[in-house]
Amino acid sequence: MAISLAHATLFSRTSLFLSRNSRSLTFCIPFSTSSSSAAAASSSLPSDKLHRNKWRSPVASVLELGGVKIGREDVMRDDPTNNVPDTIFSKLGMQLHRRDQHPIGILKNAIYEYFDTSYPNKFDKFDDLCPIVTVKQNFDDVLVPADHVSRSYNDTYYIDAQTVLRCHTSAHQAELLRRGHTHFLVTGDVYRRDSIDSTHYPVFHQMEGVRVFSPDDWEASGVDATSHAAEDLKKCLEGLANHLFGAVEMRWIDTYFPFTNPSFELEIYFQEKWLEVLGCGVTEQEILKRSGKTNNVAWAFGLGLERLAMVLFDIPDIRLFWSNDERFTSQFSKGQLGVKFKPFSKYPPCYKDISFWINESFTENNLCEVVRGIAGDLAEEVLLIDNFTNKKGMTSHCYRIAYRSMERSLTDDEINELQWNVREQVQSKLNVVLR
Ligand code: DAH
Repeated sequence: MAISLAHATLFSRTSLFLSRNSRSLTFCIPFSTSSSSAAAASSSLPSDKLHRNKWRSPVASVLELGGVKIGREDVMRDDPTNNVPDTIFSKLGMQLHRRDQHPIGILKNAIYEYFDTSYPNKFDKFDDLCPIVTVKQNFDDVLVPADHVSRSYNDTYYIDAQTVLRCHTSAHQAELLRRGHTHFLVTGDVYRRDSIDSTHYPVFHQMEGVRVFSPDDWEASGVDATSHAAEDLKKCLEGLANHLFGAVEMRWIDTYFPFTNPSFELEIYFQEKWLEVLGCGVTEQEILKRSGKTNNVAWAFGLGLERLAMVLFDIPDIRLFWSNDERFTSQFSKGQLGVKFKPFSKYPPCYKDISFWINESFTENNLCEVVRGIAGDLAEEVLLIDNFTNKKGMTSHCYRIAYRSMERSLTDDEINELQWNVREQVQSKLNVVLR
């Protein structure tokens, strides 16, 4: 078994259930801007949605994403099909992957370097595509089944019934293929409703790679098209793993993704553990066909940048990537892959328990959303420590919440207030009965 670290590939999971949960949350005003150009982005936008009410006054927060201006009200709506909270809106436009001095940007550049050296001038690079995509782009275009768990409101951030914050960079595959790109890398922030611990955060970064072959490519090799693509894929990604990790032991695991067949995961043996590095495979013919490529074969891969950066830079907690503390940011410089992070200090955690009788619609992701909404990055972990059902069939859960700042000691008063608010909102928003 590979160790489980920072967002394993979601789509290889086979459990298929949908739990519907729609809420509206209260909002405050975050603000963040980033300037960008990439002409590539605009057609990925659900344009009818994004251009309405843009300049409603006061214009407290307008982000520029992929060259398109997006207002807060384009993303967060008081509408039952919207489940985007303030904490998530405040992350849109941060674009850690476009900062050359940030571990995520340094890693992206190191991967670019590998592709530029191995395939000079071949791969088109996109790192500024808008994270707001349609349900069609995010799921249908890459053949995610209608009942797949990843489509649920519990797992994905919906802006409305047809529009989501992309949960993977695969959301851009079909469109770029349709536009005629045959070799491309897409890097971007992706969003998933999730649990709270040191390796999970509702926003993280992925890189997608796609290469399309023509009959000339495989005919010359003497093997069938699919084998040719699969062999080339493995060679390419083994080279990438060596470029990033040095001479490591690797193994290929057969798996399932809706968009590829055959599908694989690459694992490397690093620091005495098997680490899952990425998911990949030979692109389903249906995706190529719908993109107007009937006489081709292609490979694709997707990798999580945090997962790799945590290992390469020795970063112990995923929240650190979002820290503006100079003691974190000053440790990294452009082009310096794998500089080991030196923890500046470890402040003590504080644990608080909360117990309640759950109801039918209760999910842990919803609980974590409430906790993050109140404690933000002070919430380090939410752990189920007790779970029982009484004779009447009522189920009780007890969660232990760890509060810890990466930057300072928290006071008792501060933590008590957070916990008090958590108790209150868990009751009012999740309709559970506190014990
Ligand atoms: N989109 C997948 C995920 O987020 C990762 C992935 C797996 C991408 C296989 C691919 C692929 O392009 O071929 O879990």
